Amino acid sequence: MSRFTQKLMAAWDGLGVFTHHDGPTDAWIFVAVHDDTLGMPLGGTRMRSYPTLEDGLEEALRLAEGMTRKWAVIDVPFGGGKTVIALTRELGEVERTGLLERYAELLNSLGGLFGTGEDLGTTTRDMAFLSERTKWVFGIDPLTGKVRDPGPYTALGVMAGIRAALEHVDGSAELRERSILIQGVGDVGGPLARFSAEAGARVLVCDTDEERAAAVARETGGEVVPPDAACTTPCDVYAPCAIAATLNADTIPALPCRIVAGSANTQLGEPKDAERLHARGVLYAPDYVVNAGGAIAFGALAEGVSDDLEIRRRVEGLHEILLELFEEARAGEESPLHAAHRRADAVLRRGPRQAVTA
Ligand code: PHE
Repeated sequence: MSRFTQKLMAAWDGLGVFTHHDGPTDAWIFVAVHDDTLGMPLGGTRMRSYPTLEDGLEEALRLAEGMTRKWAVIDVPFGGGKTVIALTRELGEVERTGLLERYAELLNSLGGLFGTGEDLGTTTRDMAFLSERTKWVFGIDPLTGKVRDPGPYTALGVMAGIRAALEHVDGSAELRERSILIQGVGDVGGPLARFSAEAGARVLVCDTDEERAAAVARETGGEVVPPDAACTTPCDVYAPCAIAATLNADTIPALPCRIVAGSANTQLGEPKDAERLHARGVLYAPDYVVNAGGAIAFGALAEGVSDDLEIRRRVEGLHEILLELFEEARAGEESPLHAAHRRADAVLRRGPRQAVTA
C-alpha cells in the first residue's frame, strides 16, 4: 500500500472499503462503508474518472463519511456509505452496461453490507437497470416499483435551505430581488434554477457545458456566467451544485456572496474552510444538510411512502433544521458546520430509532 493510501485510511474512522477491479473495463470500484450505527449503510454510486486512483478512493471515503452525518442529521435510519467507480478510460455504451451488470452482482455478493442510489455520473436509468438485478437499490416507488429521480427533491431541499439562510440573514425568506448563482445545472442544479426563477429570483447560470448553461439561462430568464467566474461573480447566494471543493483557501478570501447553499457534496476544500467562511461573514449552509432532500425522499420511499406531496412536505422540513443550526451557530459564534456536526453526533450517540430493511 502506498504511503499516501496508508495515511488516508489511517485518518479515516470508517468501517472499511471493499475494493474491486473490473477486468473488462479496467475500472476500479470502491465501496466505502463508513458507519452502520443507525442502520444499513446506504449512499449513491458515483462514476467518473480521477487524476489518480487515490483521488477516487479519497472521494469515496469523504463522501461515505458525509452520508453518515447526512442520515444522522435528518434522523433517517440508514448508515453511511458510498461507491466510487473510478474509470480509467472512456467507456462505450456496451462496456458501460457490462460494468453495471457486474456491479449489480457485486452488490448481491455484498448481501446488504451496502445499498445504493443515484449520484454524479449515474442516472435514474442506471438505477432502474441495477434494480432489475439486485434488491440493494433504493429510491424505488413502493406503489409502481419504478425508480424515482432524487434530483428534484434535492433541489427542493436546497430551495428550503436558501430560504432559511435568507430568513436568518435578512429577516425575510423572500427570493424576489435576490440573485442566485448556480454552479452546475445538471440533475439538481437544473431544477434548482427553475424553482429559483419561479420564486422570482435572478438566476445566474454557470456550467462547463456551454450549451446546457445557455439553455437553462434561456428557460429561466437568467444570465450565463463563464465557468471560471463562479466564485468571483457578485450574488446573494452561491449554490455549488456540481464538483467538490470549490470553496477553499484560494476562493474564499474574495468570494462576493453573502450565503453559500448548494447541493454539491464536500463543498469545502478542508474542514477549516468553514471557519474561513465564518470569519468573512458568509453564511454557509452545511453541504450534507442542505443537500439531504434526496436522502429524505429515499427514507420516505423505503418506509412505504410514495405520495409526492408527503415526500415534499418532509423535504421542506430542512428549512426548520437549517434555521435551528444557523441560530445555534450565531449564539455560539461558530460556523453552522460545527452546529451540524454536533447535531449529527448526538443522534449517532443516541442510536437507531427504528430500522428500515430492504
Ligand atoms: N446521491 C444523493 C446524495 O448524496 C442521493 C442519494 C441519497 C443517493 C441517498 C443514495 C442514497 O444525497
